[in-house]
Amino acid sequence: MSITTINEGQGTLEQSDLQLDENGLLRHLLTLQGMDPVQLEAILDRGEEFLTKPGAPAARSNALAGMTVANLFIENSTRTRVSFELAAKRLGADVVNLNLNTSSAVKGESIVDMIYTLQAMQVDMFVVRDHQPGTQAMIAQHVDAYVSVLNAGEANVSHPTQGLLDLLTIRRHKGRFEELTVAIVGDIAHSRVAMSTSAGLAALGVGELRLISPPELVPNNVTNAKIMTDIDEGITNADVVMALRIQKERFADKAGIPDGDEYFRAYGIDEQRMKLAAKDAIVMHPGPMNRGIEIDSSVADGPQSVIREQVSNGVAVRMAILELLAQNRRTA
Ligand code: CP
Repeated sequence: MSITTINEGQGTLEQSDLQLDENGLLRHLLTLQGMDPVQLEAILDRGEEFLTKPGAPAARSNALAGMTVANLFIENSTRTRVSFELAAKRLGADVVNLNLNTSSAVKGESIVDMIYTLQAMQVDMFVVRDHQPGTQAMIAQHVDAYVSVLNAGEANVSHPTQGLLDLLTIRRHKGRFEELTVAIVGDIAHSRVAMSTSAGLAALGVGELRLISPPELVPNNVTNAKIMTDIDEGITNADVVMALRIQKERFADKAGIPDGDEYFRAYGIDEQRMKLAAKDAIVMHPGPMNRGIEIDSSVADGPQSVIREQVSNGVAVRMAILELLAQNRRTA
């Protein structure tokens, strides 16, 4: 076990400056690294106001009326893409979902030329996911001053709105972060979720953060967390247990990494293992889940699971951050 400092990935300190305007207001959302804890809590507070009871009408406002949001997903997504679309529409924006396979990108148009083209059609906000690091920051450096870029997942570097929704989910169940022990289990080395959620937890003063993985998937850029390889030790007395998928698409050499049933036996979250955690522990997973590999269905669908709440909270925090960027743009 070693103790190091959370770093949401290479270049993120630069990104934390790039995402602010000349008055220090948030103009883009590129990273949670370096974000003021007061601002983080304010985003969570506003997100909470957008939550309504299941079956009740969804919260709406006209905060983005007259604005256009473009979803540019160069890597696949279900939750993030749909929730950004719903969030923007519920705030009154027009929404464009660009299908890269039918766009002029296949004719060789560069991302920057695509952005300039969409900007000329009065797109105000770009929501961007890419498997390459740095795409969101690069776009932020090319757009006009009134345009915002939101990071919807950057390689294995960061996924700030996932971090926000995880923070809101934990706060709603557990209140203050200072007393909590949070265990994140799985492919930490390739997980942008682990990086952003850890950065947010560290900013809000989490009591103890444990990052647990097979030895081959230990991260090399993390501090202020306990790096562990023994899952039973790692989840003992944890208040929050988050399971992560192995991100097979992000690395070629899988030698030594247990697979399928072997991984489940070694690192899977099942009912037996959950008995080691605190009695009132909650179970989280960012999705997509591989049932029977990193998590058993009896836990994913069980009474401690808050996995579907995470999805609901995702729409709420995305509404909060879209609204904040729209407000900051108008006061800039
Ligand atoms: N958690 C998450 O980012 O899910 P998607 O890949 O479905 O967006």
